[in-house]
Amino acid sequence: MAIKASNVPAALTRGPLITLDGPAGSGKSSTAQEVARRLGFRHLDSGALYRALTFALLEEGVAEHTWGALEPFELDPLGLRVEAEDAAVNIYRNGVLLTSELRGPGVTERVAMVAGVPAVREWLLEVQRSLGAEGNLVADGRDMGTVVFPKADLKVFLIAGLEERARRRLIQDFAREPTMEDIKEMAERIEQRDQADQTRDHSPLKRPEDAVDLDTTAITFDDQVSFILRRIKDLTRLQGEI
Ligand code: DC
Repeated sequence: MAIKASNVPAALTRGPLITLDGPAGSGKSSTAQEVARRLGFRHLDSGALYRALTFALLEEGVAEHTWGALEPFELDPLGLRVEAEDAAVNIYRNGVLLTSELRGPGVTERVAMVAGVPAVREWLLEVQRSLGAEGNLVADGRDMGTVVFPKADLKVFLIAGLEERARRRLIQDFAREPTMEDIKEMAERIEQRDQADQTRDHSPLKRPEDAVDLDTTAITFDDQVSFILRRIKDLTRLQGEI
């Protein structure tokens, strides 16, 4: 029997969708970016979207104590535009591409609070789903496999020891081997953020039930990437497509 477009399940009408979720510093974004590059897919770093909203709220001078009560329509005038451009998803504010601003300490300290605001999650849900509509996407975050793309073809849940995650974050930010003191301090901050991400009411960080686990504490970056690429190639439905 010929398969008509209307009989094809929605998940088969698009290209592959891969999600990587996990706590801060587990290596999601760098791994997702490299997996996407190797497959010729687009990479969505969803944490950057939450960071962009935090940055915009701060720049606009919206009082922090009012953030929790914002309505989605109040986020429209913040001047943010999300564009899928070649391999990347770029975020602009008032026409200017946002890059290092998203990683500044002011944003990092407040982003978990912003990520707990229902209006923010609602506003970003549509943005993220439209970026995934055609598939061929590797998306990383906290709720990619549970809420945003529950029908993803492969869901990976990354974990890594707390100290190792702190060490990686410091190397990423300062490009040098950190001291034990630095690691301890960063580990405390990461733990607080994990706690906020895991206990918020709206879309908390949670392992998707159908995820493949990947502990990256003691494996190399290349091994992480190869593990995921192997799992993707094992998926029958994707054979011949990648
Ligand atoms: O991965 P990151 O550190 O850039 O994430 C920034 C914050 O955004 C972090 O506190 C968790 C939150 N976040 C989220 O709640 N849901 C996502 N899908 C991605 C990030």
